[in-house]
Order: sequence, then C-alpha cells, then structure tokens
Amino acid sequence: MRIYCGEDYKEMSRKAANIISAQIILKPDCVLGLATGSTPIGIYEQLVDWYNKGDLDFSHVTSVNLDEYKGLSGENEQSYRYFMNKNFFDKINIDKSKTFVPNGLEKDSRKACDEYNKIIYSTGGIDLQLLGLGHNGHIGFNEPGEAFEKETHCVNLTESTIEANKRFFEKEEDVPRQAYTMGIKTIMQAKKILVVVSGENKADIVAKAFAGPVTPEVPASVLQLHNDVTIVGDRAALSELLDIVNP
Ligand code: F6R
Repeated sequence: MRIYCGEDYKEMSRKAANIISAQIILKPDCVLGLATGSTPIGIYEQLVDWYNKGDLDFSHVTSVNLDEYKGLSGENEQSYRYFMNKNFFDKINIDKSKTFVPNGLEKDSRKACDEYNKIIYSTGGIDLQLLGLGHNGHIGFNEPGEAFEKETHCVNLTESTIEANKRFFEKEEDVPRQAYTMGIKTIMQAKKILVVVSGENKADIVAKAFAGPVTPEVPASVLQLHNDVTIVGDRAALSELLDIVNP
C-alpha cells in the first residue's frame, strides 16, 4: 500500500489526478472505475484542465461508475449520472456511450444488478478504480455489515450515509433510501485501486480502514488485501494513519 500526502485538498487532487493521467497515457483504452462525492471533484477539475491544455485524450477510455441511487434518472440533478456528466464527461472527449453508471430507473433490482455486472465483465475488467471513503468506512455504497457483498447489489443506505448525503438534497426526506452499487469482489478485481481522502473528519476512519483489522464492519478495510492500492490524502485526513505507519 502506497500513501501519498498532499498538504491540502488542491495538492491531494493534483497528486491523484496525476495517477489517473499516467494510467490513461500508459493505456489509452483503459477502463477507469469512477466515483462521485465531494472528494473527487478537484481531481476531475484537474483532469479537465490537462485535457483543455491538450495533455490528455479520453477518446478511447471506458468508464464504469461505482454506484447510483435507485429511483433517480440521469436527468435528476442529484443522480450520480448527472454528477458525472456535469463535473467530467461533458467537459472531455470521452465517448459517452462508453461511460457506464447503474440504471437507477430500473425498478427490478435483480435485473439492474445483473445488467451492470454484465457491463463490467464486457469491458474486460477495471484497470484503475477510484474510490472515496465514507465516514462509516463504506466504499461505493457497500455499507458496514456482517459480510462483504460480492457483485453489484441493491443496498439500503444507513442512517449515517443518509445524514452525510443530505447536504446534496433540499430536504433529508428527498435522499433516496436505496442504491445500486458495485460489490466488494468487483472492486477487489480492479488491477489498481486509488483511494482519495480529504479533511480532518476522515482521519479516524482512514486509520481504522487501513491500519485496523480487516472486517466487513469497515468495508474499506478489505482493501488491505489488495496488492496495488494507493491512498492519496491531504494531511488532515491522513494524520492518524501516518502516526501509525510512521510513528
Ligand atoms: C461515491 C461513493 C461513495 C463516496 C463516499 C465519500 O460514488 O461511492 O462511497 O465515495 O461516500 O464521499 P465524499 O467524497 O463526499 O466524502
């Protein structure tokens, strides 16, 4: 596990964007696993900037996103498809037909999940998976539980996740209670994993996830078993982990 520390959010974003950029330069037709949330926004801005300067070409890239709220269409401003289009896909030369997000409008959960698993397999596998980290240790919407869920599945969001995500909605009641998410097995099958963390309020969970026991109660802890994980964070988010690994 490699740990890179940026002094602040901007530096963290640039370091993480550098890793994604290197992946695209080394393998122009790579498959990127992408995440939403507030942490990656600066990374997408940086990648867009390099694209505008002519340093990056996304025309052969395929992307698969981690998750989507069940019940929201891609036109809904709170959907993850909308987020990806607005913050990234609409600003670069990626072929939109090669950008995948679970179908939030599919009411039949089994069908939605099976279809998404098929899409992921058909890409040939994820080269680099970008992950944010939830305050409760979730990755994607794999919430703390008794077992690691394997492939794409429908989840009931925990109170802590609803609380954390309500900032994006007008009212808490508007936060969908269910989501489709890639499973832990799929995430672990990515060739490389890049976890990004920012802010003091992540310091505790970052230390638990990467220096604590591997347990489904902290889903991200499973990443300790992957052989190519890079964590990029700002100093605030990494403070407790760095105290443990570099005492
Ligand atoms: C987003 C996702 C979530 C977020 C996590 C952290 O697609 O899957 O797991 O990465 O909730 O969110 P932020 O970055 O907003 O703290």
